Amino acid sequence: MSCHKSTGFTCAVASAFLLILVMPSIHGTPTGAPAAACKDMTPQHGYTPQTSASPFKTEIPVGSYVLMDDPVKLELRSSSAGDTFKGFLVMAFDIDDDSTPIGTFKTPTDGQAQLMNCTANGVLNAATHTSNSTKSLVNLEWQPPLYYMGIAVFRTTYVQDVKTYWTKTESITVSFVMEIPSSASHLLLQRSSVWAGLVAVSLLAFLMR
Ligand SMILES: *[C@@H]1O[C@H](CO)[C@@H](O)[C@H](O)[C@H]1NC(C)=O
Ligand SMILES: *[C@@H]1O[C@H](CO)[C@@H](O)[C@H](O)[C@H]1NC(C)=O
Repeated sequence: MSCHKSTGFTCAVASAFLLILVMPSIHGTPTGAPAAACKDMTPQHGYTPQTSASPFKTEIPVGSYVLMDDPVKLELRSSSAGDTFKGFLVMAFDIDDDSTPIGTFKTPTDGQAQLMNCTANGVLNAATHTSNSTKSLVNLEWQPPLYYMGIAVFRTTYVQDVKTYWTKTESITVSFVMEIPSSASHLLLQRSSVWAGLVAVSLLAFLMR
């Protein structure tokens, strides 16, 4: 802002006010990530992200294959006891498009998370913290887009404290399929063949009486 001589004082005040407005925020966001965090998934605190491996991870207990249109449970957790996080922001992306989050999160009931509308037309496609309490586990559930048959990955930014955060920690990839491949249902098959074996043995025993 360039100040004219005659309006010098008003102008200086206006400049100072502007400076305050554009100054990066250096405090945390205890009640959830701000809308501005949607774009690059950084907490907008004005500090740089950690480059070390994240001590927090987003786990998908069901594994790498999910039936089309089935919801997916997520666990945001610390890798080791003692590490806790205060804030988080999680979104799902198609593996081939990291520009637009996909799907919708289900409204959490435990009060640990709240949903956000990220991107112009996005509806409830991001989840963030509700408070800055220290956490070691947050449970969430996500619904893929209708008839989605792609490969999705969850990216989570974890905030340990105002100065310390890891952006876009990636989960395993999850493939949405019409049928779970047999290699993935290996354990299930093994279990059923044990049962089949037991039935056969008891049948034999019965016949041989
Ligand atoms: C997200 O958008 C939907 C649909 O426009 C609206 O009903 C909802 O209140 C919005 N939620 C938030 C958290 O902004
Ligand atoms: C949480 O946020 C409040 C308000 O900004 C602050 O006073 C408090 O120290 C924060 N607590 C933790 C655990 O960071």
